Amino acid sequence: MPKITYIEHNGKSHDIDVANGLTVMEGAVQNNIPGIDADCGGSCACATCHVYVKEEWFDKIPKKESAEEDMLDMAFEPKKMSRLSCQITVSNSLDGLVVKMPSKQA
Ligand code: FES
Repeated sequence: MPKITYIEHNGKSHDIDVANGLTVMEGAVQNNIPGIDADCGGSCACATCHVYVKEEWFDKIPKKESAEEDMLDMAFEPKKMSRLSCQITVSNSLDGLVVKMPSKQA
């Protein structure tokens, strides 16, 4: 099972095994990781699953679609490495992925 590392804004790190086919958001919610609320349940409509992807991973994950781009524009402090974790589906190629949550999602 791919291992995803979620880092809270305060630096606390969680290494979680997430099943293939789940989203990075679902992996966090199912394991009670603080900082990913996912208010819309993964419909790309709330941006409370916003994460910063560790730089070396950014080009390895599937590209954003326009709905995600639009929602990220409304997210808190979007940056170059911003993604919505509900739009990233976990697969073996994401084993070792590291994401960090923004301060507003503390
Ligand atoms: S869970 Fe709402 S945008 Fe990702």
